[in-house]
Formats: sequence, C-alpha cells, structure tokens
Amino acid sequence: MTDKRARKPSGLESRQTYRDPVYHRPNFLAILDYLELERKDYLLEVGCGGGAFLFDALESGCRAAAIDHSPDMVKVASEVNSGAIKEKRLGIQKGEAEFLPFLDNMFTCAVSTGVFSFIERPELVM
Ligand SMILES: C[S@@+](CC[C@H](N)C(=O)[O-])C[C@H]1O[C@@H](n2cnc3c(N)ncnc32)[C@H](O)[C@@H]1O
Repeated sequence: MTDKRARKPSGLESRQTYRDPVYHRPNFLAILDYLELERKDYLLEVGCGGGAFLFDALESGCRAAAIDHSPDMVKVASEVNSGAIKEKRLGIQKGEAEFLPFLDNMFTCAVSTGVFSFIERPELVM
C-alpha cells in the first residue's frame, strides 16, 4: 500500500493524487518562499512526483531538472509541465535518487520534499 501510494506511486489513483497534491501545497509554498527563485536559477528536484511543485517553481522563469523512479510519476510530471519542457526550461527523467545522473555544481538550488523517509540510505543522496 505504502509502495503504491507513496514510495513509488503507480496506478490511476496515484496519478490523480500527485497531479494536484493539495495536502503538500503548504510545503511547496514554504519552500518557494525560502528559495526566492529567479530566472537565473537552475533548480533540481529529486522525487518530483506528479510535478506540481515544479509547475509552481517554473513560474519564476527559472530552469529545472527533475528525477523520479516511478514511471507513472515521470509521465504525469511531464504532462503537467509540458509547456516548460517544450520551452527547453525543464528536463524530467526516470531514475534513482541514490544515483543522480548530474554533474556536481550544475544547479543553483535543490529540493526534495516528502521523499527522504522512503529512501533506505539517504546519506547516498545528500
Ligand atoms: C510521497 S511522494 C512526494 C512527491 C512530491 N515530491 C510531492 O511532494 O508531491 C514521494 C516521491 O518520491 C519518489 N521516490 C521515492 N524514492 C525515490 C528514489 N529512491 N529515487 C527517485 N524517486 C524516489 C516517489 O516515486 C514519489 O514520486
């Protein structure tokens, strides 16, 4: 149950939930308030779920990259943010947080919300 709904969401219900996770919005607002994103920023999100945080973050005009190990979440996040992907401001890929496929020092900031409690060895992701 936890796997399908949170650790690696899949199925229709999870796709609907993470497209607009209303109960996560307070977190998103607090993070956005802290980051004060600008156009010059390049944001990394680890465990982007359905891409709702990315959608809000990209309103700043910044660029972003995101990773999630759930194929269903990558699909929803890509749909939700299709405009930014077309503008080449965003890339979303399937992958494991423990093995981030990015070079060091590429990003100006990084976010991961509601994810770390599902990762067995979080020290590998830091
Ligand atoms: C509870 S959801 C939170 C989604 C989103 N961050 C939000 O706040 O709405 C956890 C997300 O982290 C992803 N995730 C969990 N462990 C992961 C891992 N090891 N590598 C990549 N993604 C992971 C899941 O697939 C899921 O999309």
